[in-house]
Amino acid sequence: MDKIVVKGGRKLKGAVKIGGAKNAVLPIMTACLLTRGVSVVTNVPGLRDVVTMKSVLERLGVVGSLDDHTLTIDTSGLSGFEAPYDLVSTMRASIYVLGPLLAACGKAKVSLPGGCAWGPRPVDLHIRAMQELGATIEIDHGYIVAEAKGLKGRPIKFSIPSVGATANTVMAASLAEGTTRIINAAKEPEITALAEFINSMGGRVRGAGTDTVVVEGVKELHPAKFRTIPDRIEAGTYLIAGAITGGKIEIEDACPEHLEALILNLRQAGVGVECSGSVISVRGKRDIASVDVLTSPFPGFPTDLQAQYMTLMTVARGNCVISETVFKDRFTHVPELRRMGADIKIEGNTAHVGYVKRLSGAPVMATDLRASAALVLAGLIAEGETHISRVYHIDRGYEGIEQKLGALGAQIERVPE
Ligand code: EPU
Repeated sequence: MDKIVVKGGRKLKGAVKIGGAKNAVLPIMTACLLTRGVSVVTNVPGLRDVVTMKSVLERLGVVGSLDDHTLTIDTSGLSGFEAPYDLVSTMRASIYVLGPLLAACGKAKVSLPGGCAWGPRPVDLHIRAMQELGATIEIDHGYIVAEAKGLKGRPIKFSIPSVGATANTVMAASLAEGTTRIINAAKEPEITALAEFINSMGGRVRGAGTDTVVVEGVKELHPAKFRTIPDRIEAGTYLIAGAITGGKIEIEDACPEHLEALILNLRQAGVGVECSGSVISVRGKRDIASVDVLTSPFPGFPTDLQAQYMTLMTVARGNCVISETVFKDRFTHVPELRRMGADIKIEGNTAHVGYVKRLSGAPVMATDLRASAALVLAGLIAEGETHISRVYHIDRGYEGIEQKLGALGAQIERVPE
């Protein structure tokens, strides 16, 4: 296992290019199951999660290859219908095969993902939506076993605007008979990207990006070529890296409209942020102000940037409150940040963050993807060296983070543990 070693104290300068969005690519990969043939997705990040999803598809008889950010998926040999425990337990997004397999093959067997580091994370909304579309579902030996003799479109109302359940439903409904109206759908840009991909396959999905998505089922879809949207969470993490180091960086190939909530918070904190086309420029300042945050579904402040933002707030003047409303226990980064000298108290789903003059480098352990990013950010400004172990988490969502930060002037390297 490798670890990342960061020596703090450098102001970041220069330009960084953002890759394609992991959370858009994952459902797009499984949407390829809705047809037979070769689909091509470009701007695909070279990430561990993408490789895991490729393995999930390969177990189904699909042939996939990822070469220079171009992913080719050939579903001609689709023969299986099972996503096994060994893969689902390493990546929950494997559940994205449920809807497409049911729609395309009439059956699916998907391991239940189980809990994760920050809570139970149920999949009841996915299951209920498939049942509403006409599938019969049993839970058997830890697996969701689903069958359907032709899905039927109908209105589906979610109690929570779940990204995953919306994506699974859109995929399943695309080949259902009739129209499915998804009420209280997730509005995340990754859902819009998925809808655009399905439409480029000949599908009829309208309203993506709003809270009502209407899917008119079609008899068949065809393979397609698609370019993935920029990864808003990677972009947001580099924005915070610029802000926290008092640096001056240009974030290229990004989509500023997907990051409005973070940009507003940073500006309120006194950080200079300018957007021009696909470039976001950030000018950090020596003293920045504390600004409260409440995470919420898009277009609210993303839960996937909460940990990184909290690192920034540890050295912001004043006290602030960070409330996590999407996942109740998503605070695994807090004990590690405290070990670096941060003043953070947790009360339920709220973190009270006080000002400290500096963080100090320490050995810390990454517990999930975004927590790892928060610790790297902390390392960039800490006195001395920060050793972040279990970096396999970071490889799930940040391609070449040490090269990208290194090119901006950070002292960062990956070394064997
Ligand atoms: N929920 C349920 N039942 C369900 C599904 C979700 O109660 O059947 C709850 C969850 O427990 C949570 C809320 O609904 O409290 C929202 O969860 P959602 O389903 O929207 O999350 P997800 O689809 O599992 C995706 C991203 C996450 C991101 C969330 C929220 C992917 C592969 N994952 O997860 O990304 O945090 O949406 O935006 O798209 C990450 O990239 O680091 C990451 C964790």
